[in-house]
Amino acid sequence: MHTETFDVIVLGAGAAGLMCAIEAGKRGRRVAVLERADRIGKKILISGGGRCNFTNLHCRPENFLSANPHFCKSALARYTPADFVALIEKHSIPYHEKTLGQLFCDRAAQDVVTMLTQECDAAGVRIITNVRVQEVQRPSDFVVRADAAEFHAPALVVATGGLSISKIGATSFGYELAKQFGIGIRECRPALVPFTFSADDRRRYCDLAGVSSEVVASFDRQQFREKMLITHRGLSGPAILQISSYWDGRQPIVIDLAPGHEITAVLRNSPRRDLAAARAALHAAMPIRLAERCLELYPPQGWSNADLAEMEWQLHHWEVRPGATEGYEKAEVTAGGVDTDELLARTMESRNVPGLYLIGEVVDVTGHLGGFNFQWAWASGFCAGQAV
Ligand code: FDA
Repeated sequence: MHTETFDVIVLGAGAAGLMCAIEAGKRGRRVAVLERADRIGKKILISGGGRCNFTNLHCRPENFLSANPHFCKSALARYTPADFVALIEKHSIPYHEKTLGQLFCDRAAQDVVTMLTQECDAAGVRIITNVRVQEVQRPSDFVVRADAAEFHAPALVVATGGLSISKIGATSFGYELAKQFGIGIRECRPALVPFTFSADDRRRYCDLAGVSSEVVASFDRQQFREKMLITHRGLSGPAILQISSYWDGRQPIVIDLAPGHEITAVLRNSPRRDLAAARAALHAAMPIRLAERCLELYPPQGWSNADLAEMEWQLHHWEVRPGATEGYEKAEVTAGGVDTDELLARTMESRNVPGLYLIGEVVDVTGHLGGFNFQWAWASGFCAGQAV
């Protein structure tokens, strides 16, 4: 069997692994990145609708879910969106701010992968694709056994990502490796994922497929004011993806269908209180098909002020109990993962297994929609890259 020795082995050539490899390589470490797929950065390529929402200018610790909300602070402070933008600008990659601080490539996500490849080359990083890791042992150094080769290094970085979208290479490898070394895992679940309707709601709403409307979606104490899209199967769109990360799988989510509008105000202040006036008021506040369905489902019970108040309340508190989520095949990320209590926040090194680092999505840090997950991948990768 062919054997090679490095200072650092990185498992996974995604956003976090490549960033870590670049930083370690720049520090003179001999780095190998072992990637299971036939090419690197596949998730980067499909991200942001092919344009990669590579960071968010307003990145704050509050944009992340984790059992320990303080854990991400150190890494996010050490590698900021401005640092990644500086790298993008160094490579003259054209980009734009779409909305809410979200930065996208003007051309294509390939620009980001090309940039990372060039940085790896400059830092002397060896990238090996199509590697099937059979096992990892640690007699003294780490030994990674693949089909035809064995790789040795004193530092091993696990950057194998989450469980979403197995058809482009997602595996549970990182979680299993963590368990093998006695590292705890917080329960995983699909996040940033569309909801499916219950059977009843599907009958009620699926003919509205294609309707898109600005809403406030709430669960527990979280709320997001963004677009909601009704699909043939359920609910999607940014507001829904965001709130899905917080859903407990049981309780209903609450949707304000007309945020900022007091729809019945015009009826209350007018001598004319009838269906036609209610319809006109609803049409002014939301898409017509949705307005018509609201009138069918919640017809005004009368025209007294109390009746109008009830109607107003209903429109701002549409309760939907999702049947389920669309699962890992449609989820942008995996929430949960390697327990942050097991890691040093400054370096991502395991507290109990010196030399073992876990970074990126495999860790129990999950960002909101809008470039935050890549920022976590860059930041956690950077921190590990400074330490290995
Ligand atoms: P990532 O998944 O990127 O990389 C892990 C790598 O490890 C993969 O290359 C995989 O093949 C490899 N691997 C797995 N098992 C292995 C094994 N056993 N051995 C070797 N290699 C192995 N985020 C964001 O901020 N902005 C956005 O625009 C989007 N858009 C988006 C769209 C879609 C459709 C999805 C699914 C996700 C997004 N995301 C996103 C989320 C973002 O892509 C994700 O959070 C990061 O890619 C995570 O980076 P990692 O490096 O941790 O994992």
